[in-house]
Amino acid sequence: MDAKVAKKNLNWKELGFAYQRTDFRFSAIHQDGEWQPGGLVEDEVIGVHEGAPALHYAQQCFEGMKAQTAEDGRILLFRPDLNSVRMNEAASRLLMPEVPESMFIAAVEETVRANYAWIPPYGSGAALYIRPMLIGVGENLGLKPARSFEFRVFVSPVGPYYKEAGLAVISLAVSAMDRAAPNGTGSYKVGANYAGGLLATRKAQELGANEALYLDAAQGRYIDEAGSANIVIVMKDGSLVTPASNAILPSITRRSLMEIAKTTLGMNTEDRAVDLRAEFDQFDEMGACGTAAVLSPVGRIWFDNAWHVINEDGHTVGPVMQKLYDTLVGIQIGELEDSFGWLHEVEI
Ligand code: PLP
Ligand code: COI
Repeated sequence: MDAKVAKKNLNWKELGFAYQRTDFRFSAIHQDGEWQPGGLVEDEVIGVHEGAPALHYAQQCFEGMKAQTAEDGRILLFRPDLNSVRMNEAASRLLMPEVPESMFIAAVEETVRANYAWIPPYGSGAALYIRPMLIGVGENLGLKPARSFEFRVFVSPVGPYYKEAGLAVISLAVSAMDRAAPNGTGSYKVGANYAGGLLATRKAQELGANEALYLDAAQGRYIDEAGSANIVIVMKDGSLVTPASNAILPSITRRSLMEIAKTTLGMNTEDRAVDLRAEFDQFDEMGACGTAAVLSPVGRIWFDNAWHVINEDGHTVGPVMQKLYDTLVGIQIGELEDSFGWLHEVEI
């Protein structure tokens, strides 16, 4: 077998969500108003000017995607067109140049293909996490946009985001700190939103939770989202509700789960504001969802100085979360029919 296609000898089943250096990354520079032809590079270290706006003023955005191996060996991406759209929305919001969708997809495919040996095998439960990023580089001091930009894509094999493999029940703690203002940048995948959340996550973890849960910054009543995932809730009336807010990331996983719930599971679905305290006793099941988090059932939430338990004992995986997870993951790894047309195969 060609050395390039021999898989790395990693303990795939034991992987956590951590950076693992792989062989190649894609890099392209935008200068003088246009993208220069990019290509694969081996150096994982980016050299940028000390005045780069990405470093001082957080002029940067990123994406998170996964490549999975199907049983027949196909390498599958999940709705990469939506990552491209979302990255370009962030780019426009931060006065950065858009990356044309064809360039974005080609760069992702090229990076995945070049790192074939690092793509976790079928059945390992792991995936190749893909991190496209766009950063404002070059010399600068005042608060103004960069004049040049780097678009980079790197990959890393990863296991589950929350320690336990598969469908792990997690807990969230409502943060006293806000993540994003109603007309701020919360709906864009920009690094600035995450730096402010580091302390909130630490405080949540000090309480014994996995993550912070943010309520709306205007009134502190309505559920926004978790630090790295959107929220879905099964109500006692059997409907699946997701909190509507203009301050949350439009999660691709959440949009997919809502569609699965409606079309495959025949559930009533609703996007609406959810008042945590007023509606908590109507919650039957809850989940945190995202590319990294997949769908993690939420068993307990800390708010108003107490733990509030969902789904009996706070440790049980509810039947709807189980079905949603099985269907989503089944489609993503090519085990279930993709009647939605969500999969994008990377030709190796
Ligand atoms: N919310 C936040 C803050 C995130 O960082 C993520 C991760 O990407 C998500 C939600 C989930 O989005 P997606 O499902 O598109 O990965
Ligand atoms: C993802 O789920 O892709 C994310 O970007 C979340 C990140 C905090 C790991």
